[in-house]
Amino acid sequence: MKGIILAGGTGTRLYPITKVISKQIVPIYDKPMIYYPLSILIMAGITEILIISTPRDIGLFQMLLGDGSHLGLKITYSVQNQAGGIAQAFIIGERFIADDSVTLILGDNIFYGCGLEEFLIQAAAERKGAMVFGYLVEHPEDFGVVEFDQFFNVISIEEKPRYPKSSYAVPGLYFYDSQVVKIAKRVKPSARGELEITAVNNVYLEKGELKVRLFPKGVGWIDTGTYKSLLKAGNIIESVQTIQGIYIGCPEEIAYRKGYISKDQLLSLGNKLKKTEYGMYLIKVAEGE
Ligand code: DAU
Repeated sequence: MKGIILAGGTGTRLYPITKVISKQIVPIYDKPMIYYPLSILIMAGITEILIISTPRDIGLFQMLLGDGSHLGLKITYSVQNQAGGIAQAFIIGERFIADDSVTLILGDNIFYGCGLEEFLIQAAAERKGAMVFGYLVEHPEDFGVVEFDQFFNVISIEEKPRYPKSSYAVPGLYFYDSQVVKIAKRVKPSARGELEITAVNNVYLEKGELKVRLFPKGVGWIDTGTYKSLLKAGNIIESVQTIQGIYIGCPEEIAYRKGYISKDQLLSLGNKLKKTEYGMYLIKVAEGE
């Protein structure tokens, strides 16, 4: 299973914050936003990761994460010249995906909470078709919306419908088999000129190969699309980390626990940041506290 983080887009909804910098570099409390989706892919057991961003911003991600070897990962980079839609990620990533299955995560989606790791590992183990998730929200019309029956058979999936058929939003985390590249190439641009991820999911639905799952009860999702949700995310991360002493979106820790890097490597990463609480946390994890 390969992983793609889509970290481009225009970011205009967060101007002026994102006028000169990528949204997915903006901090959520103590770390750049991309650390959170990166952590999710590592949790799922994915070690080969493609980051897609704009020509302007791709260099920032390269500077931040390099080739990923410090985390025991292989990270590569591609450019999306224009925001042509989320599903374009599969066309850009065609050679990277090759014949493998692939997980796509949007660079501005944050997931956290208990039971997430086992859940992601199970989702990544599925080999056939596509899997999306449903998350109960107050304003489903702002998202992709999935409707399903009591046996979790998907009935419909729609992009930002005016009259949503359910209250379950589809978060920006998707698991696909290798057919996804072919399917993305066949999808026609929507009225807003984008290759919609929902259109790809609809093709899987028509083939009877789209599954939907709900996250375990303790799992939360935040789409950091607005000033308020950015602040909300930062506040939640700060509270959990301070009160529970558990870090969210800490790729170094997850890579260590997965056995991708050694204790000495983690210590050295922590030591480089030791003027910060983040660095001290890495050292504590390495020392088994
Ligand atoms: O957050 C979940 C929602 O994400 C889903 O429920 C929707 O079905 C899905 O379409 C998407 O909706 P958004 O309105 O949030 O999409 P947005 O255009 O804001 O893009 C989401 C992220 O993907 C954002 O960080 C920018 C990045 N992106 C987006 C597009 C269209 C790219 O990197 N390239 C693109 O071409």
